[in-house]
Amino acid sequence: MELAETGIEGLDEIIGGGFIRGRTYLVAGETGTGKTLFALNYLLHGASKGEGGVYLLVDEEYDSFVEGARLFGWDLKPLIERGLLYVVTMLPDFFERMRSKPVETVVGSIVEDLREAVERVGASRLVIDPIAPLVVGEESVVKMRDYVRSLLINIEKKIGTTTLITSEIPTGSNQLSRFGVEEFLAAGIFVLGLRYAGSRYVRTIWVRKMRWRPAEPAIYEFEIKPGKGIVVRKDRRIA
Ligand SMILES: Nc1ncnc2c1ncn2[C@@H]1O[C@H](COP(=O)(O)OP(=O)(O)OP(=O)(O)O)[C@@H](O)[C@H]1O
Ligand SMILES: [Mg+2]
Repeated sequence: MELAETGIEGLDEIIGGGFIRGRTYLVAGETGTGKTLFALNYLLHGASKGEGGVYLLVDEEYDSFVEGARLFGWDLKPLIERGLLYVVTMLPDFFERMRSKPVETVVGSIVEDLREAVERVGASRLVIDPIAPLVVGEESVVKMRDYVRSLLINIEKKIGTTTLITSEIPTGSNQLSRFGVEEFLAAGIFVLGLRYAGSRYVRTIWVRKMRWRPAEPAIYEFEIKPGKGIVVRKDRRIA
């Protein structure tokens, strides 16, 4: 089984070495819990090993994203120039064009755009952050689930990258994902959180599921270190 190291400090050792190549992983969490930093950390590690990555930026402007990363201590520009990172934004008219189109058409179009982007830089890693805005005009839960299911299945089938998607959990809920279907399709799930520990908040990462890997479900503390990213504290296991 070929693995892709996440490169996130402290994480690979607790999940048996990394992600299974070609599979999809889910990073879920409420807003501000570190999903974007986790996703970018994963791509930057790949890039540092010469593995190209595509980042589908869904809910932020390109310039503000690149600038935000720079402020964090991650200079994306040289990687973009060297073709190791490709930040793809959704065309502003995409959602308008796709409104009231059948699920297969919308999914087909997104998957085709992603496939082209992946091919263009020969990427082996893909990030979709977050998945929710891609779900257009689907009013019923059943349809939304069908849509997300179809999207994730087609990404594995037609693109073949080791993919990480992020999903925002509504604040205060105990769901594992936004649509309640992502977790079943993902080979592994991480739930990021914040918990109040007496006098301060600590960041937590719950390794909720890791299919076929020798990883037990557990919750650890983690830190966010500028310029470095996510640092999982294996020595600070909470549960
Ligand atoms: N330079 C920094 N040093 C320490 N912590 C930082 C720094 N920059 C950002 N953070 C922390 O990281 C958090 C944001 O992480 P991130 O953007 O990855 O969260 P997210 O889960 O993607 O949020 P959203 O749901 O809004 O997209 C901030 O709320 C802040 O607490
Ligand atoms: Mg984010």
